[in-house]
Amino acid sequence: MLPVTLESARVRLDVPTRADAPAITAACQDPDVVRWTTVPSPYSSRDATTFVDALVGPGWASDREYTWAIRRPGSTWLEGIVGYRTAGRDLGFWLAPSARGAGLMHDAVELVVDWAVGQGAPDVYWECYVGNTASAAVARRAGFSYTGTADARVPGRDGGPTPAWTALRRADGSPASDLAWP
Ligand SMILES: CC(C)(COP(=O)(O)OP(=O)(O)OC[C@H]1O[C@@H](n2cnc3c(N)ncnc32)[C@H](O)[C@@H]1OP(=O)(O)O)[C@@H](O)C(=O)NCCC(=O)NCCS
Repeated sequence: MLPVTLESARVRLDVPTRADAPAITAACQDPDVVRWTTVPSPYSSRDATTFVDALVGPGWASDREYTWAIRRPGSTWLEGIVGYRTAGRDLGFWLAPSARGAGLMHDAVELVVDWAVGQGAPDVYWECYVGNTASAAVARRAGFSYTGTADARVPGRDGGPTPAWTALRRADGSPASDLAWP
């Protein structure tokens, strides 16, 4: 499908472009982005343009993975990325350090989940590597139910099994489990 723009009072989600490469490259130097995601490390501006050219555009065109830039309304600066992969109906996201603590990812996740549900998804899945309490807090605040620990669908950089916290948000709002969040 063609890229879709989503908006709340605090964020505007639209398609990342090559013009975002400097912001993406800067954010992907952050040790927490490196630790908790699978972005290449070390990360160069060439990785950012490859991300835009090989993943973002083809992902939308093939309906495999929808990727949005997170911007503040009225600004062109990319503050972060949120992505939704259709095969597993799962989310991935990061924010630049300077954009954290303001609820931007909360709004971005709400917008993407609501949009996916509007597209017919019966539920949306989230996971993070065990210990990523900042990501877990985003999922919990966005109404996901914690569903336990499992091997991550997206293994860490070494490729071996990586333990993950998992959660689900059902389209109808019913809890997917009664487990307490770690
Ligand atoms: C995970 C990550 C995106 C979370 O960022 P974040 O800034 O904590 O998330 P949000 O934008 O939703 O902001 C939430 C914070 O804003 C605050 N906030 C302010 N107004 C808010 C509002 N209206 N709604 C929600 N939160 C609000 C919250 O209290 C919270 O702060 P706290 O954690 O100190 O309580 C960020 O830590 C990150 O990029 N980490 C590295 C990459 C990563 O781990 N990605 C996930 C891989 S699974």
